[in-house]
Amino acid sequence: MKESKFEFSYKVYNDISELAKEDATLLNKAKSVTKQAYAPYSNFFVGAVARLANGETVAGTNQENASYPVGICAERVLLGNAATLFPGVSIDTLAISYDSKDVPSDHPISPCGMCRQALLEYETRTAKPIRLILAGQKGKIYIVETVRFLLPFAFTQDELI
Ligand code: THU
Repeated sequence: MKESKFEFSYKVYNDISELAKEDATLLNKAKSVTKQAYAPYSNFFVGAVARLANGETVAGTNQENASYPVGICAERVLLGNAATLFPGVSIDTLAISYDSKDVPSDHPISPCGMCRQALLEYETRTAKPIRLILAGQKGKIYIVETVRFLLPFAFTQDELI
């Protein structure tokens, strides 16, 4: 028997002034694109903005539905947009933020399980780690170097070939 361990490190910043300029710009876009979210049921408005390897930026916001399970998260809206507008181009950095009518937006959120799976597929298919910037409208900011860190024991396309 051998015991194995999975651990990862991530960076914690106290506020946006500590970020590199282009990371701060991306995060500000994610904070403001939350205004385009359609979230009348949860009142939780998520914004995701990616900087691609070709320098373009692509955004996504959560889009809810009266039939609740039909709603889609900001991250997967973004991935669909990126794959359609710039096929084959990898994502360098992805900033995710949120706003809410009901709770304070004062700490980072991280992608839900379904989005982690979708982000991992994108990372794998473009053969490039996606760097994540996670933050609320204010408060601490996390930077995680790859989606792989957020999904240990992932089921991937390797199993199907
Ligand atoms: N949501 C996202 O868009 N991204 C996440 O990472 C977490 C949750 C959305 C789904 C739903 O519209 C609302 O936030 C509340 O769960």
